[in-house]
Amino acid sequence: MTKFFATMALALAAPVAFGAAGKFPTEAAANNIGDQASLQRGAALFMNYCASCHSAEMIRFSRIARDLGLSEEQVMKNLNLVGAKFQDTLQVAMTREDAATWLGAAPPDLTLTARAKHEGADWIYTYLKSFYVDEARPIGWNNPLLPGASMPHVLWEYQGVQRVVTEPRQKDAQGRDLPCRKGEVGNACFVRFEIAQPGLMDPEEYSVAIRDISNFMEYIAEPAVMERRRWGIWVVLFLAFFTFLAWLLKAEYWRDVH
Ligand code: HEC
Repeated sequence: MTKFFATMALALAAPVAFGAAGKFPTEAAANNIGDQASLQRGAALFMNYCASCHSAEMIRFSRIARDLGLSEEQVMKNLNLVGAKFQDTLQVAMTREDAATWLGAAPPDLTLTARAKHEGADWIYTYLKSFYVDEARPIGWNNPLLPGASMPHVLWEYQGVQRVVTEPRQKDAQGRDLPCRKGEVGNACFVRFEIAQPGLMDPEEYSVAIRDISNFMEYIAEPAVMERRRWGIWVVLFLAFFTFLAWLLKAEYWRDVH
């Protein structure tokens, strides 16, 4: 009976320890979609470092300009690096077939990724933070959030070269693997990341940069949030004004009654 309870406890503890985060827990991005400066920086980083491989075919340059408070000229000069038209969506020059041949997998369209991932922007933030060198792989990099990913660490110059420290998995009395405390890396348990070679940014600056990218990706996944916020302010103002009118009217009616 004790054994039964112990097994039950283990079975229940494993999913609780990691929640819905899967085999490697995500870190909170702490991004804020209302922070326009962050979105602008995120857009610039996205165009420079992601859009060469990834499209975002459900969002237009013109829409980004409007939502991020940028002029057509600013967008065309600073964000549109591929000679697209203002009304165009974010396309990539290379075909999916070429990409698949060169990289081993076609880079997916990123418009809806922040919504497709259960952990949203947190997943993207943690993903961009978790690339580590893996000499066993031809690509030279690996990532515990997407083990065996065919995406190289495109921001390594900024973050630096990161190594992963792991420890062997603990076994229970029956020789079965126990869950890792801090997440899985391959067959081992994650301990920590170490910067083997510093990058152009310190860890704090790098966190800001990837928070901005995650923020921008959350925005493109649901740009209507911006619209709702803009409308929201007017709706509240209208209601406040209307309440005031109603109050004046009431005061007017009751004056004759008193
Ligand atoms: C050299 C091309 C290349 C560049 C540049 C690139 N990626 Fe990728 N990315 C890929 C490939 C290929 C995959 C597919 C990986 C796989 O499934 O093995 C991928 C996958 C992803 C995924 C996972 C998508 C999913 O649905 O699981 C995210 C998120 C992502 N990339 C974000 C980014 C961001 C953000 C940038 C810019 C900082 C970026 N990528 C730059 C090639 C690239």
